[in-house]
Amino acid sequence: MRAERRGVALLAALVSVLACAPADQPPPSQVPSAATSTPASAPAPTATSPGPSDAGPGAPGIGDADFPHDGNGGYDVTHYDIAVDYTPKTKRLEGVTTITAAATQALSSFNLDLSGLDVREVTVDGAAATFTRQGSELTVRPPRPLADGGGFTVRVSYAGVPKPIQDPDNLGSYGFIPTGDGAFVTAEPNGAKTWFPANDHPADKATFDFAITVPAGLTALANGELAGRPATSGGKTTWRWRERRPMVTYLATATLGEFELRQGRSAGGIPVLAAVDPAFESSLEGVYKTSAEVTDYWATVFGPYPFDSTGGVVDDFAAGYALENQTKPMYGGFDPDDGITAHELAHQWFGDSLSIRRWKDLWLNEGFATYAEWLWAEHKGKETAEAAFERQHRRPAGDSIWKYPPGRARPDDLFNQSVYTRGAMTLHALREEIGDRTFFDLLRTWTAEHRYGHVTTDQFVQLAERLSGKSLDSLFDAWLFQPRRPA
Ligand code: TRP
Ligand code: ZN
Repeated sequence: MRAERRGVALLAALVSVLACAPADQPPPSQVPSAATSTPASAPAPTATSPGPSDAGPGAPGIGDADFPHDGNGGYDVTHYDIAVDYTPKTKRLEGVTTITAAATQALSSFNLDLSGLDVREVTVDGAAATFTRQGSELTVRPPRPLADGGGFTVRVSYAGVPKPIQDPDNLGSYGFIPTGDGAFVTAEPNGAKTWFPANDHPADKATFDFAITVPAGLTALANGELAGRPATSGGKTTWRWRERRPMVTYLATATLGEFELRQGRSAGGIPVLAAVDPAFESSLEGVYKTSAEVTDYWATVFGPYPFDSTGGVVDDFAAGYALENQTKPMYGGFDPDDGITAHELAHQWFGDSLSIRRWKDLWLNEGFATYAEWLWAEHKGKETAEAAFERQHRRPAGDSIWKYPPGRARPDDLFNQSVYTRGAMTLHALREEIGDRTFFDLLRTWTAEHRYGHVTTDQFVQLAERLSGKSLDSLFDAWLFQPRRPA
């Protein structure tokens, strides 16, 4: 069968399974009303009204001391509407991002994070706003101050050639990365700002709508489900996706290029989409099947799957890493085995549904996803989690993971091996201490109590103590916070 024809048939089926509400329906997130405190009979504010007299500038950072410029203060985003048009040949992106937010203080100005790209126009509630730029901070001054608690929308029009962030010592490049046929978009920890203006820190979650326009024939993949059938005109196709569950900015993707698609439902009834670059055509079936099987299995271990679809994307960009993009984990240039698939899909619960408020707590993502790899191997009869733990515990006392306490991820080396491996060992030590029954009850209670929300290490320790009835301070202290190998 010729590729184009198969593409059309798949597309029709894809729309029927993955489509959610029509694209013109407002997002299901709560859009705060701009005038909650103004009675209907009150005179409408005019352009000359002074607005709140106590208004001041919003902070240029969200309050994560390790990443003082990431995110911003003074407001909370509820929804991003991102429309981008990308031309792989010129690597040029044209974007219009509309952000719906609520002020958490009276604001004379506020910041967004945006790196590179030329800003053409900014409006706040439809009125032209002035703006200045310094580094990755875009400061917006609305014509009138914004009232504390009030909703507002800010619309930013921008264009240019996105530049990924270079981190040669650790992650390589991340953010919006051009590839031979399109772009590979993986943005952890703070690369969302390379392609859209954002409150770019996991402490602020929001729902997302995407409209991604690409040359006809290419596929654009974003989070969530298709919102209508891709529409082609004038040689371009617009793909609309909607993530209706709250999501952090670093998980947003607009990966685009040539892709082969396979979709359906898992045995447990969850819509599944696998997408692979043609160079990985032989991986398509495996990615589809393994993603479906793993998602269903984790739902029995961690609690109900938090999102409305699952899957995986393999691109031919040789990143050598994977990222847990919400509903669509990405694998950069390799055929993922079941171990890494188990890791990225475990993140849908740990990292995606439950998000960290501060980067120092990253073990709550990576330690859990690594422990999930051990649980998967145990489930498959390959190696028990106990054996994996023992294997790691045998690392010599001088090994670097014993010097790096995983409960406090360091900003200059966030993704240290200790955060992954010693984080996973912490969970196994806890499991041994409180027993399987309480341990797995703890995992399910944790994901249920904080679904779509934020978590801290202290909250996890407290819940473990509450459910087990044990004092666990010394266990967590030894495993998470001491610069030496626990006994
Ligand atoms: N969270 C990823 C994982 O554990 C690793 C990662 C961190 C990453 N930053 C990234 C991957 C940026 C891709 C791009 O699997
Ligand atoms: Zn991970």
